[in-house]
Amino acid sequence: MSQATSAELHTDPTQFPGLDVYAVAGNPISHSKSPAIHKRFAEQSNQKMHYGRLQPALDQFKTAAQAFFAAGGKGMNVTVPFKLDAQALADVLTPRAQLAGAVNTLCIQDGKIFGDNTDGAGLVRDLLAQGIQIKGSRILLLGAGGASRGVLGPLLEHSPKELMIANRSNVKADELIHLFGSLASSVGVALQAVSLSDLEDAVKTTSPFDLIINATAAGLSDASPISDAAASNIFTPRSFAYDMVYGKATAFMQQALHRGARVSDGLGMLVEQAADAFLIWRGPELADAIDPRAVLAELRTS
Ligand code: ATR
Repeated sequence: MSQATSAELHTDPTQFPGLDVYAVAGNPISHSKSPAIHKRFAEQSNQKMHYGRLQPALDQFKTAAQAFFAAGGKGMNVTVPFKLDAQALADVLTPRAQLAGAVNTLCIQDGKIFGDNTDGAGLVRDLLAQGIQIKGSRILLLGAGGASRGVLGPLLEHSPKELMIANRSNVKADELIHLFGSLASSVGVALQAVSLSDLEDAVKTTSPFDLIINATAAGLSDASPISDAAASNIFTPRSFAYDMVYGKATAFMQQALHRGARVSDGLGMLVEQAADAFLIWRGPELADAIDPRAVLAELRTS
């Protein structure tokens, strides 16, 4: 590893006198677009700050994060595989971080480490910015891991008519139904779990859906979580298919495209969750100064 790369992967706040220092922590992290996104937000809103990368060893997140904050670091974004470690590290959790079961944003307030989760809010804002109506819609959420848990609360709070969770393992989907059941009934959303094979049956799913979100890890290995028979059942030209993975047209997106549906990758969610973190750190009054959609457009053309 070259010295420059090594320094970049181990951001030391003492090396940036006069600047507030932030970082994204993950492993691996060299591919992360977060530094470029926050650099643009800082430029748009005239903030004097530096945003770098941290790549703790897999069992070293706590030590690395504590060292970063002890050296003066102001805030941190946290990505795979450290979101649970970040939740354990935080002294105080926001209600949405508690509900999400994971933390993607840390900041220091009055000497305490605060943990928040901006992923779900980021997804919802990206969907709304793309003209997708959540209120009153029928949503199918694929997956029941951390990514699904992180977005369920904000999706339910926008009052879809129905939210169906489909997962490979029924136990994990049932756990989410249990965790989010009372929130769903309090906002009048019909929440239920089905198996991936149920998706091939129009009677079981009362398909099609308005919005289908892929929150499984299948896209990372170039696979789709659903069969072609399920795809023919759930997508119509009026459906919107959203994959949280970004940077490629995934197998899931291609199944949707072949059935005439509109599709999106998850780059907008990445930018929008970053915007939320930026405003937590730098102040909500900067909301009008930053332009996440312009930053997204720049990323798409770079
Ligand atoms: P994350 O925290 O990123 O969501 P995770 O907790 O490992 O990661 O969950 C990944 C999700 O993707 C799970 O819902 C997983 O299904 P299981 O609960 O049955 O393990 C789902 N998943 C991963 N690979 C998949 C594949 N090839 N097909 C279908 N679902 C898949």
